[in-house]
Amino acid sequence: MASKEILLLVLCWGFVVLATTSFGANVTYDHRAVVIGGKRRVLISGSIHYPRSTPEMWPDLIQKSKDGGLDVIETYVFWNLHEPVRNQYNFEGRYDLVKFVKLVAEAGLYAHLRIGPYVCAEWNFGGFPLWLHFIPGIQFRTDNEPFKAEMQRFTAKIVDMMKQEKLYASQGGPIILSQIENEYGNIDSAYGAAGKSYIKWAAGMALSLDTGVPWVMCQQSDAPDPIINTCNGFYCDQFTPNSNNKPKMWTENWSGWFLSFGGAVPYRPVEDLAFAVARFFQRGGTFQNYYMYHGGTNFDRTSGGPFISTSYDYDAPLDEYGLIRQPKWGHLKDLHKAIKLCEAALVATDPTYPSLGPNLEATVYKTGSGLCSAFLANIGTNSDVTVKFNGNSYLLPAWSVSILPDCKNVVFNTAKINSVTLVPSFSRQSLQVAADSSDAIGSGWSYINEPVGISKDDAFTKPGLLEQINTTADQSDYLWYSLSTNIKADEPLLEDGSKTVLHVQSLGHALHAFINGKLVGSGYGSSSNAKVTVDFPIALAPGKNTFDLLSLTVGLQNYGAFYEKTGAGITGPVQLKGSGNGTNIDLSSQQWTYQTGLKGEELNFPSGSSTQWDSKSTLPKLQPLVWYKVIFIFHYIFYSVHQLKDLNVGIKNF
Ligand code: GAL
Repeated sequence: MASKEILLLVLCWGFVVLATTSFGANVTYDHRAVVIGGKRRVLISGSIHYPRSTPEMWPDLIQKSKDGGLDVIETYVFWNLHEPVRNQYNFEGRYDLVKFVKLVAEAGLYAHLRIGPYVCAEWNFGGFPLWLHFIPGIQFRTDNEPFKAEMQRFTAKIVDMMKQEKLYASQGGPIILSQIENEYGNIDSAYGAAGKSYIKWAAGMALSLDTGVPWVMCQQSDAPDPIINTCNGFYCDQFTPNSNNKPKMWTENWSGWFLSFGGAVPYRPVEDLAFAVARFFQRGGTFQNYYMYHGGTNFDRTSGGPFISTSYDYDAPLDEYGLIRQPKWGHLKDLHKAIKLCEAALVATDPTYPSLGPNLEATVYKTGSGLCSAFLANIGTNSDVTVKFNGNSYLLPAWSVSILPDCKNVVFNTAKINSVTLVPSFSRQSLQVAADSSDAIGSGWSYINEPVGISKDDAFTKPGLLEQINTTADQSDYLWYSLSTNIKADEPLLEDGSKTVLHVQSLGHALHAFINGKLVGSGYGSSSNAKVTVDFPIALAPGKNTFDLLSLTVGLQNYGAFYEKTGAGITGPVQLKGSGNGTNIDLSSQQWTYQTGLKGEELNFPSGSSTQWDSKSTLPKLQPLVWYKVIFIFHYIFYSVHQLKDLNVGIKNF
């Protein structure tokens, strides 16, 4: 190798090392900002939850975040993924937290690690592993010794892991902030004095882990010093931290919202989102995080609940698949540039508020050294207004903020979108032939029937109706409640059979009822009320009748005081009701046989071998319990509405 090439190599290597280790910095804060390496910073952050995409997607998502003007990537840490069984850890594949944080560093971005370990996040059981619920004497999120011991063990495990990999900024890594707990202040009153002492304990425990970077607590107005209390919400400009020594930080600016099954697809106009961000920086904020910047997908059974959908798209600047969502992404990118042009003035001084008039607000950041940046806001929702500021006239559209990095020229107004509107158009072009070629017969679909009722060896019998989560330990969404009972020929119920109903009450979330192998009805709750009460008309025959009730959970609750105590399943009563008085039969306390999970899950569908899957060209229809499978790829084409001449076409396979 020629010496010139060696020199070049050494130079390149030096550059890479520099690029990935340029963080080594003390992180502190003062009343104005987070201070990194002695410098106050204006920081724009965005949430990307690593298990909601694939490791293959991470570099692209992070790069698109950087291109969009982010400085920081925020993620929660998901305890129930990492420790599915107590003391058995999993940090592989989509769960590879270290890899994710390292990729953030490689892109030259900072990280905010919200350890929780309670995370809410529309995540199954709020991120807590189910086994936690079975620890004797445990009470979640309060001053309870068994809970605190487990919370401390997991938090310390994560902190140690980050330390070993030198991922804290104090060690040269990208992590500049960590969060303990999550929005406990929203529900702490339900826990009384024990809630207050728990939060003090959590603060002390976190600080004792000695990360070398600040800790935050969101929505916790009494966060003990030196922990920074931060704001979550659609607007946080009116927020003030609980001490003059703490900066004004916004950890969750909801870029859209999550989708529930049966609910409307959420949408937050970018003009409003940009308005909220500009108002926050106008009024002294210096750290703002989009929740979510990329929402992604709730894979497997990770959705919280009840009834949180598998898509966690969130109307975020990067859509579920990681594609740039326009004009959201582009308008925010323009906003971030405008805010960064003001950074030097913003962090150097406190603002003044010269009067502009009702529903109007001017904010000026002016330093002795001649820096001057200003924000002009029209917070009225009805009319555009022309204002006079520093001798010049400015038109302020309703509900908008103009940013003037030099106190004179407007570089950005939140209501005026200049970025292109790219509209992705999805088209299904072909069904992929699966590895098993028999799957490709006909339309590409194949199926397997699921037996009705008990089919597994581990079924068991107990008197009475059992609560579902305590029975399944969330090993499956499904629990069969089965019963065979003898109906006597002279049973009054049979006299007017046409009026008999099966009455079932369930704590949720959904159920299917079968009598003698036939579906008699289905019912389900909703995200606001998971309970199900049904009355299915039935026809009973004298002699043996079999009742098979299949109860389903659709994501375990993730929010609210004592949410871990919310039950599910058919806790009763289950009754056969006739039309006349005294003709009811209560089945609730009979001997029920229980089966957790379905046969299909036991056989590990849908990845079961090809011989189990039937791919006849006509699929069974209108049959209650069938597993269907298809594998497909989709292509997308996107084009620019504003620039149709330069048609921008991209095709990608997933
Ligand atoms: C917040 C919570 C987040 C998420 C969000 C809604 O209150 O902290 O984890 O649940 O609401 O998407």
